[in-house]
Amino acid sequence: MAVTTGDTRIPFIAGNWKMNLDHLQSIAFVQKLAWTLRDANHDFGDVEVAVFPPFTDLRSVQTLVTADDLQIRFGGQDLSAHDSGAYTGEISGAFLAALDAAYVIIGHSERRQYHGETDELISEKVAAAHRHGIVPVICVGETAEDLEEHGPSAVPVAQLRTALEGAVRGQEIVVAYEPVWAIGSGQAATSAQAQQVCAALRELLVEVLGDEAAAATRILYGGSVKAANIAGFLKEPDVDGALVGGASLQLEEFASIVRFKSHVGTL
Ligand code: 13P
Repeated sequence: MAVTTGDTRIPFIAGNWKMNLDHLQSIAFVQKLAWTLRDANHDFGDVEVAVFPPFTDLRSVQTLVTADDLQIRFGGQDLSAHDSGAYTGEISGAFLAALDAAYVIIGHSERRQYHGETDELISEKVAAAHRHGIVPVICVGETAEDLEEHGPSAVPVAQLRTALEGAVRGQEIVVAYEPVWAIGSGQAATSAQAQQVCAALRELLVEVLGDEAAAATRILYGGSVKAANIAGFLKEPDVDGALVGGASLQLEEFASIVRFKSHVGTL
């Protein structure tokens, strides 16, 4: 069953900085982004914007956002499944919440691939985010081999099914569909491919969370998103935004992605 109430979901453009920009660079970047969007009269109620800097930048970004009363939101790129204790190098959701982080990315393919994160651990991290009132941005996506072996939707749907076991019913989640073969490759999925998988993910949300929550949940596409292709993704009924990697580090490019509505008609 398809849910077609896309109008009620506020588009969300999120910049995943990955391991780029130190805390001083983060201040300069967020300040310039805010100025650029202000000069363009950007309406944050119309398209929400968030950045995901490294942990060491978060305090600086929070201080700037608070002092200048910016509407740009921010979050962490990961969190611990635990709340405190002898877990060297880990970051608690409590610490992120104390810095006003609205969101946290969970289960990014780079963490699955390079840090051995399993679907079960990701589900525990979703639970940890919800314990601390942080909205998890749950990343799912298939590799090129998965695509060949299982088709387009099976792996992302299975990943999301397990991740949702940690979600508290009634609390917000965001889903990010990021095909691994499209990340950093310059080879984005087509908007039709993204729509196909995002529709399958929404059907799973209907099954697990019910119609209302599924219709309210934003599903983002990620993987080689740039200003030139963003409007095509956003015209799809089940794509509600983008999780942007490389292009989120280029100020003008990212600001242009945020302003994707101004590109409609140029397709
Ligand atoms: P790119 O936009 O660089 O392909 O990265 C996508 C991504 O991994 C965002 O989380």
